[in-house]
Amino acid sequence: MDKYLDSSNEIKTVVFPVAGLGSRFLPVTKLVAKELLPILNKPLIEYAVSEAIKAGIERFIFISSPDKQSITNYFRKNNKLENELRDKNSEYLDIISNNVIPEENLIEVIQDKPMGLGHAIWCAKDYISGPFAVILPDDLVVSDVPCIKQMIDVYKKHKCNIVAIQEVDKNNISKYGVIDFLKNNQNIYHVRDMIEKPDQEKAPSNLAVIGRYILSPNIIKELSMLKTGFGGEIQLTDAIKNSIISENVIGYKFEGNRFDCGNVMGALEAQLSIAINNDKYKDQVIEIINKNLIKD
Ligand code: UTP
Repeated sequence: MDKYLDSSNEIKTVVFPVAGLGSRFLPVTKLVAKELLPILNKPLIEYAVSEAIKAGIERFIFISSPDKQSITNYFRKNNKLENELRDKNSEYLDIISNNVIPEENLIEVIQDKPMGLGHAIWCAKDYISGPFAVILPDDLVVSDVPCIKQMIDVYKKHKCNIVAIQEVDKNNISKYGVIDFLKNNQNIYHVRDMIEKPDQEKAPSNLAVIGRYILSPNIIKELSMLKTGFGGEIQLTDAIKNSIISENVIGYKFEGNRFDCGNVMGALEAQLSIAINNDKYKDQVIEIINKNLIKD
């Protein structure tokens, strides 16, 4: 029996939905998946995988599109390149062998059409039997304790669905799923409703859901009963909202900085912030910025 298909309540599985169109990054996403765009020398998806590994996750499910299989290849062994680097005695050999995920822990499911985040998660149904994590790689979170680890710790105590939330500016609230809550205890919010991309004046709070979730396997049943929602897509927010009748949902205000790398400026901000906080690049980045700020 698959060691993950048991009833233990430990979170050992993560789903990465990576089958979206990446329209906001066109034209580069005509050919390169958004999740493979680099922040410094690592693609976005590698930050997401590292976060999951640091949180004790062992099994990685990628919901990919028919055109995007290179995303899983990135985590597979590349014997040809390894041999070439070895022949050259290259210092880079370790870098490429360090990010390999063992084949038995790497699952790829194809979402034929980008029918929405909810539909992407539903595509993982054959591999889900216990609670699991979801990480959207284009939301990059920099934090001392990995964001998904913080959420797993909350899950251990509360044993319910958890969505990561952050305060966002009123003007931006209609880009997000937004929670309404009954009460809160510090950074734990007891959710009573969720609305996907509400008009600014209809938003029930300024607390937006970002791309980290801990979900019970019952969400798959909720998703299979859903009709299309906002934007003609199957929305994960709607399924979580519907689950509130039978299960508790917590909005967890995580510790850390989140960068929305799904758009060009958010990704640029992540590049700059991560480079400036990296001893190797800091001085050079500051020099480049200063040079460009000096007017003739
Ligand atoms: P986004 O809406 O941010 O990504 O979805 P997108 O659709 O690729 O971007 P735009 O709006 O066209 O620019 C969040 C995550 O969910 C995945 C995306 O790949 C991204 O990682 N996703 C979205 C799917 O896997 N399938 C879908 O049908 C939709």
